[in-house]
Amino acid sequence: MDLSVRIGSLTLKNPLVAASGCFGYGVEYAEVVDLSSLGGIAVKGLFLAEREGHPAPRIVETPAGMLNAIGLQGIGVHRFIDEKLPELRARKATVIVNICGTTLNEYVELARILSDAEGVDALELNISCPNIKEGGITFGCSLTGTFDVVSAVRKVTRLPVVPKLTPNVTDVASFARAAEEAGADAVALVNTFLAMVIDVETRRPKISNVVGGLSGPAIRPIAVRMVYECRQTVKIPIVGMGGIAEARDALEFIIAGASAVQVGTASFVDPFIWPKLLDGIRDYMRRHQIARIADLVGTIDARARDHEWTSS
Ligand SMILES: Cc1cc2nc3c(=O)[nH]c(=O)nc-3n(C[C@H](O)[C@H](O)[C@H](O)COP(=O)(O)O)c2cc1C
Repeated sequence: MDLSVRIGSLTLKNPLVAASGCFGYGVEYAEVVDLSSLGGIAVKGLFLAEREGHPAPRIVETPAGMLNAIGLQGIGVHRFIDEKLPELRARKATVIVNICGTTLNEYVELARILSDAEGVDALELNISCPNIKEGGITFGCSLTGTFDVVSAVRKVTRLPVVPKLTPNVTDVASFARAAEEAGADAVALVNTFLAMVIDVETRRPKISNVVGGLSGPAIRPIAVRMVYECRQTVKIPIVGMGGIAEARDALEFIIAGASAVQVGTASFVDPFIWPKLLDGIRDYMRRHQIARIADLVGTIDARARDHEWTSS
């Protein structure tokens, strides 16, 4: 059985990747998960400098999901390279570094620095960050913002470049196209959905930042639809995510068009989820006589189902 998938020039040994912000810098999980058994690890988003993030409370549980506004707390790129990367390398992890910026130059600088660091396998661009030079509009909510970040990073690195799209737009596929035209090797989607939760007794928002990002099974059907739309629009590989908690959820994304998938919130619920997901995928491949997981990508049979609806 061949579980390997290709994301640009990068080959992942299987399609399961730990989602950014939900697996620390990877090393924190080294005692519970064999890091080399994962297809990849997308580490917590990094800026150039260290960041404190938002004050608590920063997360709250919601029906079938969670809301978070961590505020991209992080140790900054230099400490990551000095303190985390050597262990990730020693443990033979496939390392996808999630980079964040508040200016175009910050993304470029991060890409340059990480391209020179041994042990980085790909760059995931978190473009759900405000562009402080454009009045704070999120890079990934503007087609030119998306195009500009991807093409600027593309010019300074040979690493695979994978922009991570925000779902907080009307037509996500046009953002995938902008990323492809700018030279992205793949697109990852989705980041979290803007959302909020209010305590009606105190009339206070339940997280300090008022608004946060919704993740978990609640968002999965929307994320699957977005992956499907992008698959119809671009040729580059897609990394799909949003609410994957079981093998069949991962398979849903793959059938909709994702070459690889990421798992975030579900790994908080069950840190031992990884071998279970892999076993479930292998079992499906056996039952459906699929020798290569890559052959399942985008195989959705989306013929009209009108006759099935009207027959009941
Ligand atoms: C606590 C938390 C922190 C996150 N931090 C990041 C981050 O630093 N960078 C990023 O691109 N996405 C971040 N995300 C988004 C996830 O990587 C993922 O896109 C999203 O949660 C949907 O997947 P899931 O439903 O499997 O969690 C974060 C999500 C959560 C829940």
